[in-house]
Amino acid sequence: MPERGLGTRLRPYGSSIFSEMSALSARHDAINLGQGFPDFDGPEEVRAAASAAVLDGPNQYAPLAGISSLRGAIAAWYQRWYGVAVDADLEVTVTNGCTGAIGDAMLGVLEPGDEVLLIEPWYDSYPASVVMAGGVCRYAKPASPGYRIDREVLEAGVTAKTRMLVVNSPHNPTGRVYSEAEWDVIEAFCVEHDLVLFSDEVYETLVFDGAHRSALSRPGLRPRTIVASSVGKTFSLTGWKIGWTVAPPRLTEAVRGAHQFTSFCVATPLQVGTTAALELPDSYFEGFLSGYRSRRDQLVDGLRSIGLEPIVPEGTYFTLVDLASLGVDDDRAFCERLVRELGVAAIPTSAFHEDHRSGPIRFAFCKQPEVLDQAIERLSRVGELLP
Ligand SMILES: Cc1ncc(COP(=O)(O)O)c(C=O)c1O
Repeated sequence: MPERGLGTRLRPYGSSIFSEMSALSARHDAINLGQGFPDFDGPEEVRAAASAAVLDGPNQYAPLAGISSLRGAIAAWYQRWYGVAVDADLEVTVTNGCTGAIGDAMLGVLEPGDEVLLIEPWYDSYPASVVMAGGVCRYAKPASPGYRIDREVLEAGVTAKTRMLVVNSPHNPTGRVYSEAEWDVIEAFCVEHDLVLFSDEVYETLVFDGAHRSALSRPGLRPRTIVASSVGKTFSLTGWKIGWTVAPPRLTEAVRGAHQFTSFCVATPLQVGTTAALELPDSYFEGFLSGYRSRRDQLVDGLRSIGLEPIVPEGTYFTLVDLASLGVDDDRAFCERLVRELGVAAIPTSAFHEDHRSGPIRFAFCKQPEVLDQAIERLSRVGELLP
């Protein structure tokens, strides 16, 4: 038997920083503010709808593109929140979470050797998905702590072989929400370089000031954009892994071309539950956002009260804390010490930089208020870890 293990393509990506920090956190019985999953479950009526479907059906394979009621609810969602008309039959594909959408889009669209422009710090499945699809990653590097997107930042990463740009707003891990001016830049850049845009909008309902701008609502982007989102964040159901793409028919065909062989279809009863979720009344989304606004303020105020300087996020459920100004130059080692010595897990953003340079660390606030209080209490000894 020849010795076999992880292939060379994936070797640079090792195991995900989220799995690593969650495992370390469990070993040390730490409070896990690392991986971004809520410690509470989504709305009962949504879980009841899924549970009824498990008991009474449908429980067999769904159509490749997703059950028609869910595709209809997804199309209605874009009309309801963004005023964008979406064809449920030709433009919507239900995927294995947003992660599945990312993979299917890369596999479906890219030719071998095509370059994809990623923006640092990125979500970790982007580069691995590009490489699995035979593509090549290029990087745009906006400066911290503002992480603003401008033309110069994007142009620095583009070449004649670039075929796709990946954006994510609201942005994990920085908490940035792109402004109208930044979207103008993205739109002009994609049109001028004739790029496909992959717009990851999983945090679309977590915008604290103003409103989410979907790439779909821009006329220059609509014909060239694959928007992806999922049930996980908005409905506190990250374990369901039901996601979707919305894209013009030609790009949808590409996503479906890959999806039919990566998974063919995703859990049918959970698609029924997701349909119920997307149809919840406005009051659910108002309560959801105000709950998160108060958790954000609690964590940001708490971190400030112990002498740390978090960035106040405009969206998502993450906040970044700069370490360089505290004299710390190895974010990963610092996060390991936080778990072992103080019992709190965070995520080092070096994992999302091409050169792995040390960056700020990310705390998630998708946790119960008492858990956040307890975490701050433990972190109040952070001075002991500083040089
Ligand atoms: C930016 C971003 N995209 C995609 C995902 C994955 O979404 P899903 O759980 O639906 O696969 C996450 C999860 O943390 C994320 O932060």
